[in-house]
Amino acid sequence: MSVDVPVPVPVAVSGRRTSAPLLRVERLTRHFEVSGTRIDVLLDCTFDVHRGEVVAIIGQSGSGKSTLLNVLGLLDTPSSGSYTFDAVDTTVLREGPRSRLRGEGVGFVFQQFHLLERRSALANVAVPMVLGGVPALRRRSRAKELLESVGLGHRLNSQPHQLSGGEQQRVALARALSREPALILADEPTGALDAASSTMIMDQLIEQARVRDSAVVVVTHDPKIADRADRVVELVEGRTR
Ligand SMILES: Nc1ncnc2c1ncn2[C@@H]1O[C@H](COP(=O)(O)OP(=O)(O)OP(=O)(O)O)[C@@H](O)[C@H]1O
Ligand SMILES: [Mg+2]
Repeated sequence: MSVDVPVPVPVAVSGRRTSAPLLRVERLTRHFEVSGTRIDVLLDCTFDVHRGEVVAIIGQSGSGKSTLLNVLGLLDTPSSGSYTFDAVDTTVLREGPRSRLRGEGVGFVFQQFHLLERRSALANVAVPMVLGGVPALRRRSRAKELLESVGLGHRLNSQPHQLSGGEQQRVALARALSREPALILADEPTGALDAASSTMIMDQLIEQARVRDSAVVVVTHDPKIADRADRVVELVEGRTR
């Protein structure tokens, strides 16, 4: 006798939204004080991001994209409004739980790579795992596996200055993925790269969403990158639309 067992269909494939969003940003604002003058950068940002989804954030230079990404990555706090991450209201978190959530839940890829010079690709990828208390042998095998997955299995012991820009960005991506974060944030990850390297980085980010069910938020100026996202959020005069 055969029994029909329903096969769960991934959200990204079915387009159905059954779960709560991983990120929920509501009426979020961020201003800064500079020499007694208030600078309003984010005035009203409201959007959700689900697991399995790739969202591109676009907007003019100075529109607040990096400011917003810093808040999403728990590196900064909003001036008002709410930011819920994995059902946790982050605005009331103390520094301890906030940095734990950041370390476990968020992987960053920055435009300027931010790799440690004079350390090998392997050591760079292992940094978040050192902070997370992963044992040395496990760190090494995981870092090797990640570098192989981004096509750098032959560059494990190379230091950043011995790598091309595209290779350094792939090391940065491998590092961001090392603790299998639920949320991957990438700030202009392809800004300094040629078309082939940009495509490779974007392929990897999309794969993280599709295969690992991560939420991916990528800031970009590049229309080709934005076109490949599931959704585009535009920042205009401090507001999302
Ligand atoms: N810590 C800060 N103190 C004061 N002003 C700040 C601070 N951080 C950002 N700003 C201001 O906020 C505005 C937005 O900056 P942000 O870096 O978020 O822009 P962006 O959209 O990422 O720009 P770009 O595309 O050039 O990277 C800028 O005018 C910047 O000067
Ligand atoms: Mg920026």
